[in-house]
Amino acid sequence: MSDQDLVIRDLHVAPAAKPDHEILKGIDLTVRKGEVHAIMGPNGSGKTTLAYALMGHPSYIVKSGQVLWQGHNLLALSADKRARLGLFLAFQYPMAIPGLSVASFLRSAINARRAGLNPDPSIDPTDAFKGGIPMGEFRKLVKAKMALLKMDESIAARYVNEGFSGGEKKRLEMLQMAVLEPEMAILDETDSGLDIDALRIVAEGVNAMLSPNMGVLVITHYQRLLNYITPDAVHVLAAGRIVTSGGKELALRLEEEGYAPILAENGLEGEIGDEATDPAGEAPAGEAPAGEAPAGEAPAGEAPAGEAPELAEAATGAAR
Ligand SMILES: Nc1ncnc2c1ncn2[C@@H]1O[C@H](COP(=O)(O)OP(=O)(O)O)[C@@H](O)[C@H]1O
Ligand SMILES: [Mg+2]
Repeated sequence: MSDQDLVIRDLHVAPAAKPDHEILKGIDLTVRKGEVHAIMGPNGSGKTTLAYALMGHPSYIVKSGQVLWQGHNLLALSADKRARLGLFLAFQYPMAIPGLSVASFLRSAINARRAGLNPDPSIDPTDAFKGGIPMGEFRKLVKAKMALLKMDESIAARYVNEGFSGGEKKRLEMLQMAVLEPEMAILDETDSGLDIDALRIVAEGVNAMLSPNMGVLVITHYQRLLNYITPDAVHVLAAGRIVTSGGKELALRLEEEGYAPILAENGLEGEIGDEATDPAGEAPAGEAPAGEAPAGEAPAGEAPAGEAPELAEAATGAAR
């Protein structure tokens, strides 16, 4: 283990609203920089809870356990400090922020990230003369990343996620990731809401960003995204624990068989959640139900109750 890794040890998490009801019941996981890990699991198994707990969402309480990142005790840090340390979360349900343009949002996020963990008060990241990213450099960077993700440049002037389609929201999440260049990226169901062409473009964008300096945690219900982004390891989350881990073949097996057999092997017959037992049948291989959330999930565009819009900003490292 190097102190550059993301190390999760025996992590127990409950929602703040129900602190006695643990959703995560002991997660152990290590993700090294340069590695891609996939977390797969039935709906309601705790995938988003894990992502939020790692990012510091106020609606979740860490009951016990440890998370180390680059030698820091991550759990002691605020969400924005976690972002400044190079952690990035692409949301399953990105929030709209009316009144804030995509361009301003990206610019303050970049500046906050550049300011680092303990910003120098004499540096004003919103001011190009006091350490902020110069406008010319910013435009060039965003233009290049939009081209990578095949995005229409007109999106820069629109308000963050306001009136965006499911696919546009997911692409904006990837654009944020591309400009912020995180060292650990958590992608929560980035494939949902994308049609097959958008899925390929987004996956190609992620692949182009992969580097020995970035670890990736791909959270997904279906294996289709893993047709394009090859994971080094696949973990199955059920009933709040990682019940089994393997290589890419584990994801292919889940596509073939659905979750039921693997859960049964682990004594978790009743944990299939609120979904059909055959995810492969529900979403044909390599084909996303365009703009449609899987059964039992909130429709794209609706955030789970209790999520603060500020978090979207904080989590991506925007200046406060
Ligand atoms: N804020 C919350 N309050 C109460 N229950 C929650 C909260 N967030 C998640 N849960 C419950 O925890 C379980 C796991 O949810 P989630 O992490 O969103 O699963 P997944 O992302 O795997 O579909 C679900 O049963 C869900 O209803
Ligand atoms: Mg989820």
